[in-house]
Amino acid sequence: MTKPPQQKAKNKYWFVLGREPLLSSAEIEAVFGLKNFTLNPPVLKMSLPELPDPKDAIGNLGGTIKIGLEIGVNFGMEDILNKMAEEIKKIAKENGKTNFGLSCYNLNSKLPIKIWGMEIKTRLRGEVSTRFVFKNEPNLSSVTVEKNGLTGKKGIEFLIASAGNGKYDLGKTLAVQPFEELGQRDFGRPARDDASGMLPPKLAMIMINLAQIPRNAIILDPFCGSGTILTEADVIGYKNLIGADISNKAIADTKKNFEWLNKEYKPFAYKKQTANNEIKLYETEIARIHEFVKPASIDAIITEPYLGKPLRGRETKIELEKQANELKKLYIDAFTEFKKIIKPKGTVVIIIPKFKYGNGWVKINCLEEIKKTGFEIIPFLKNQTFLFYHRPNQFVGREIYRFIAIS
Ligand SMILES: C[S@@+](CC[C@H](N)C(=O)[O-])C[C@H]1O[C@@H](n2cnc3c(N)ncnc32)[C@H](O)[C@@H]1O
Repeated sequence: MTKPPQQKAKNKYWFVLGREPLLSSAEIEAVFGLKNFTLNPPVLKMSLPELPDPKDAIGNLGGTIKIGLEIGVNFGMEDILNKMAEEIKKIAKENGKTNFGLSCYNLNSKLPIKIWGMEIKTRLRGEVSTRFVFKNEPNLSSVTVEKNGLTGKKGIEFLIASAGNGKYDLGKTLAVQPFEELGQRDFGRPARDDASGMLPPKLAMIMINLAQIPRNAIILDPFCGSGTILTEADVIGYKNLIGADISNKAIADTKKNFEWLNKEYKPFAYKKQTANNEIKLYETEIARIHEFVKPASIDAIITEPYLGKPLRGRETKIELEKQANELKKLYIDAFTEFKKIIKPKGTVVIIIPKFKYGNGWVKINCLEEIKKTGFEIIPFLKNQTFLFYHRPNQFVGREIYRFIAIS
């Protein structure tokens, strides 16, 4: 008799999402698949087979701030206080003095965190030794969690979310975003080009994940700038990387950053995944990329092309429309080239900018013509044609699209 297939254990995980919950959810969808999930921003809850290494998992996600594990749901106040005390006691009995902190998400009324923390301490007095980490904010930052060892052996951060009807759900943090590593990759890399605009590493990582490609895929960024997409791909574990750019400074910058990442960058807390990888770099305008890259050889093109001249917010509508029209040609020409070098069914994840004008946007209307070059849009989260990324003080908004090459 054949044995029934082994069911992998499932746990309910909590993903505390970053500033753009839609983008972060789409990333989780791309990485884990989204089944049986609930999203009550900023918390996305989902059942998954066990995550063997949550710290590793969060290091490869650009849009998740914390990963937690559900402890229980629908607690009244008395019960949740008891449950937290019980969890702390377990740790303290085994490992000695235990630090604990409380973070609340999507609760309608302000939780008296200080009173709850002191109450838990009182309940444990005389039994075990504890330290309450309190910051007078609804939730603790990743920095506080990490610096106080709340994901370590002698600490715990409780995640408290509304269960509706005045009750609470309870989780505990397993891992937080590696803020020091991200900061080092953002501000510590040797070559930066603030003039042509650099993609935040977190957004680069999200875009790479949205491509949903295996680790041995060949990735090209044909507008690589200082190489953020390529270096983040390297961090995630992609090894076949190609960059191109019209500017020789951009190529030199990418080379410098890539070498720094592989030789000098030392992640503080987590595993180092990069190890003397190589990258191919070509100085070329997009219209000639087919002279450098073999036909039908690329699995994924992940890129933020030229976004136009930096804007000051004082441009007229006519000036913005002129810029949009110039970029339209560049973007359509780029897709014509992409079609020559991408594999059938290959993926393109690309930023298409739009420009702030008053309360609205001037857009580059290029989607229909891009489709005519042999691509189809693959929406995110079932029906999102694009995902939007924008900082309030910026005059450029970034729409992220995912295309597949029609064979
Ligand atoms: C917005 S930047 C990309 C920045 C990059 N994502 C990063 O994080 O560093 C756009 C890049 O496109 C390059 N570029 C502009 N026009 C191009 C063209 N026609 N062909 C190829 N590259 C071009 C620029 O030199 C610039 O480095």
